[in-house]
Amino acid sequence: VKILVTPTSFTRDKQSPAKDLLESCAAEIRYNPLGMPLTAGDLIPLLAGIDGYIAGLDYITAEVIAAAPSSLKVISRYGAGYDRVDITAAAKKGVVVTNTPGVNSQSVADLAFGLMLAAARKIPALDRRIRAGEWSRISGVELYQKTLGIIGLGEIGKAVANRAQGFAMNILACDPYLDKSYARSKQIREVSFEELITNSDIITLHIPLNEQTRIIIDERAISKLKPGAIIINTSRGGLIDEEAAYRGLISGQLGGMGVDVFETEPPAGSPLLTLDNVVATPHAGAHTAEAINNMGLLAVQNLIDVLSGRECKYVINPGAIGI
Ligand SMILES: NC(=O)c1ccc[n+]([C@@H]2O[C@H](COP(=O)([O-])OP(=O)(O)OC[C@H]3O[C@@H](n4cnc5c(N)ncnc54)[C@H](O)[C@@H]3O)[C@@H](O)[C@H]2O)c1
Repeated sequence: VKILVTPTSFTRDKQSPAKDLLESCAAEIRYNPLGMPLTAGDLIPLLAGIDGYIAGLDYITAEVIAAAPSSLKVISRYGAGYDRVDITAAAKKGVVVTNTPGVNSQSVADLAFGLMLAAARKIPALDRRIRAGEWSRISGVELYQKTLGIIGLGEIGKAVANRAQGFAMNILACDPYLDKSYARSKQIREVSFEELITNSDIITLHIPLNEQTRIIIDERAISKLKPGAIIINTSRGGLIDEEAAYRGLISGQLGGMGVDVFETEPPAGSPLLTLDNVVATPHAGAHTAEAINNMGLLAVQNLIDVLSGRECKYVINPGAIGI
């Protein structure tokens, strides 16, 4: 079989157990020639003659699916989110889409907590000052006993909650499918979205991007925050109105932000990057040795399972195989 592999952390020159497994069953492996997430225009020629595709954060639109060869049987997402894949168009064409949930949650939770500490204590701004030859301090706030609002208590939200307990934080969560027994066992209080945004000192987003959640943090939500609240977003840029957040950060209504994801990536010209109280990383939540290894192995295994007609429990568009 011929396989296309595009994640920027799964490359031709880096040997790994996932690459060994893929090489043991593929006649040809085509790698991402650009070293960045691909657009529809980049993808269409690369998909020619391909049977299976291990997909990074590419834009797999209806146009890409329509142009894909009939040999393409599976798009195996390397990661949990699939908001950039038109899974309905894929299902209509009989292309199975799979993902790798759970295996990067500890890495993303570490980064969310890192951004929380960095924003609360203004670590990057202090670092910039000292490198510029300044020896001046900026006061921050403690995380200890603060109220943390977790929007989306799934795999990553829970991993963040487990870390927050070590800081004696008071945890609120909103999630329409809340795991109530987990929440009870960790003394996490289930609240509405409104209650969460008005009562939290720090809000962290761990939800998928879809039509219900797009711009969930808008101008109105920002106006309801506790003045000086901090927002952490390691989910998807499209969840937050960046212009409204910028105005909130300027007025002080928002005390700081930690962002790993942007509406447009790379975020050239994002006003957020001009502010000292914003801590930013380049969609690096899952970039750890552990997550790269686990996502690679699971993405390759999912691809092999689908191509060999075996059952795969990570199919996200079951319509494609008529379940
Ligand atoms: N920064 C990164 O590199 C990176 C890596 C992995 C995942 N992610 C993002 O993190 C998101 C969460 O990942 P996960 O593994 O925890 O997913 P998950 O499916 O385990 O959890 C998502 C949770 O959100 C809840 N939810 C859905 N809609 C909601 C809403 N409107 N309000 C409140 N809760 C809602 C769901 O019920 C679920 O419990 C992914 O969708 C992805 O976009 C980012």
